[in-house]
Order: sequence, then C-alpha cells, then structure tokens
Amino acid sequence: MSTKDQLLLYLRKNQGNWVSGELISNNLSVSRAAIWKHIQKLKEEGYIIESAPKKGYLLSKDSDPITADEIRKGLCTKVFGKQNIIYLKETDSTNTRAKELAAEGAPEGTLVIAEKQTKGRGRRGRNWFSPPGDGIYISLILRPAISPGETPRITLMTAVVLAEALISLMKLKLSIKWPNDILVNGKKLAGILTEISTEMDAVNYIVVGLGLNVNTRFENFPQEIKKSATSILIETGNRAPRIKLIQKCLKLYEQYYDMFKKNNFEPIMNRWRELADIIGKQIKVDVIGKTHIGEVVDVDNDGVLILKDDQGMLQRIFSGDVTLARQLNLN
Ligand code: BTN
Repeated sequence: MSTKDQLLLYLRKNQGNWVSGELISNNLSVSRAAIWKHIQKLKEEGYIIESAPKKGYLLSKDSDPITADEIRKGLCTKVFGKQNIIYLKETDSTNTRAKELAAEGAPEGTLVIAEKQTKGRGRRGRNWFSPPGDGIYISLILRPAISPGETPRITLMTAVVLAEALISLMKLKLSIKWPNDILVNGKKLAGILTEISTEMDAVNYIVVGLGLNVNTRFENFPQEIKKSATSILIETGNRAPRIKLIQKCLKLYEQYYDMFKKNNFEPIMNRWRELADIIGKQIKVDVIGKTHIGEVVDVDNDGVLILKDDQGMLQRIFSGDVTLARQLNLN
C-alpha cells in the first residue's frame, strides 16, 4: 500500500477527530514533511482535510470524494466500472464524454463519472442541476447485441436498478414515474438519460446517464426546481455515502444486465410495474404538441405506455411527461 493510501486509512480510522502530525509520522514511519505533501495531494483529490498548528490533521466527517480509486475499492463487479473508470473533476456532461469515448471504441462497462457537470443534460432538452460534492453524475457505456427498438428496455431496467439500490441502502419509499424518473414523496430524486448510436438495424452503443441528488440541501436547489426536486439528505435527514451508492448501482446493474442479455426481461418488467404503481391510474401525458388524458392500461415490455382515453380508444405513447389525475383534480 502506498504511503498516501496508508495515510488515508489512518485518517479514516480517526475520521472527525484531530490526529497530530507526530503521531501519524511515528505510525507510518515517514517524515512530517512527506505527510504534509501527501495531505496536499489528498486535498487536490477532493478529500476535506483541515490542518491546524498543534492539532494536526482532521478528515472531515462530510468528506466523501468520488475518485476512481474509491470506487474500485470494494467494488465486486466483473465488467461494470472494473476495467475503465474515467473520473473527471469537472466536465460539461458525462453522457457527452461517454458518447465520444464509445465512438472511439471504449469497451462495454466503461464508466464516466464527474464531480461536477457544467452542462448536465436531462430528457427533452432540459438541464440537469449538477453541483460538485452533492450528487452522483455517471454514464455507462453498453454494447448489447439488440435492435434499436429494444433500447427502451435498458432505460426501464436502469430505473429498476437505481430504485433497488436506493431501497436497499437508504430504505427510501420511492416510486418510478414513467418513463424513468425516481420520485420520493412526489418529488424527483433521480433521472436517467439514455442515448443510443445505431447503424443500419444494429445498436453500436448505448450510453446510460444517471443523475442522483444525494446530499443537496433544499436551499441549494435552484428556485425553479425547489418544488419539484428532492435529495436523499432532504428525505432522510442524513448525508448518504455516494461511493457505496455507486458501487451498489454497479453491482446491481451487472446482475440485471446479465438477466437482460439472457432474454429474461419479464421479472425486470414486473418489478418495474410494481415500483411504478401506475397501471389503472388516471393520468395526463404531455407529449410534444399534444396532451393525452386517460387511464393507464399497461406499460408494455418496450416501455410503451398504453392509455385508454374517455372514448375507450387505446393510445400507444412512447415518451412524455406524466401528471397523475389526483394532482390534476380530475377525480
Ligand atoms: C432526466 O430525468 O431528465 C434525466 C437526467 C439525467 C442526468 C444525468 S447526470 C449524468 C448524465 N450526464 C448528463 O448530462 N445527463 C445524465
């Protein structure tokens, strides 16, 4: 283990408490000057470390930087995030970066992750609020042997993976909002942006982008999304460990993706339906230039929403923004 890693381990054991430079120096058998140098490196990597004369060093309890090393430590996947983790302190959009890498031939399982996005992108041309330190912004490169028409299934599967990771680690009561938002108490906690490159009738690659509001405080959300967005911190009152969440998502992703590749999509879709709880509900769907109102009959295995309008006609809707009838006062 490198001196820097030993130092980090030592600080971790004492996280939230001051440890003197002398004590660290004796324990690790390195000079105090060397310790100072490694502390500076750790700070550059994003660790929050205070230093004070006579007190020494303190690794803040809130220190939770995302680095490729932190993700790799304890990650038990075979492909996802195992070979290629591209960590960027700041980028415009991890999806944009991942698409470039995929076009250059980056392998399946490549993970692009950023601490901050300056042009985080959401569905339908929207922005994704991506401040540093508080969120998870990742994009995964997939190369499944499927036809372009099957790609919505990847988005449905991703929503299930994200939901399961949040339920198991954070015990959140959440729901999936069609097509792919994760909501808690009616507010958006996470979103998924799937982008695809096709050639003839085959998929070249798929980039799945995941944005999760982890430790964002209410007052830090921009005014325009204050009413509609939430974070794990807001919902639970506690900061959540971003690295653990990323590792859990990657682990589950691999499991679900294996099922998907074995054509075992039915259980994934059933779980999606359970988590979405939308079948039989009266809804309004805004599609570009059109609004549909009706009862949800089903969401099929391709993620298409089947809506029965008040004339009893069935509409197949591929994408849009859903509002529940009780929010519209239709019932
Ligand atoms: C949405 O709900 O509108 C989708 C939001 C997706 C945001 C993520 S953050 C990581 C990845 N990079 C992006 O630019 N967007 C996705």
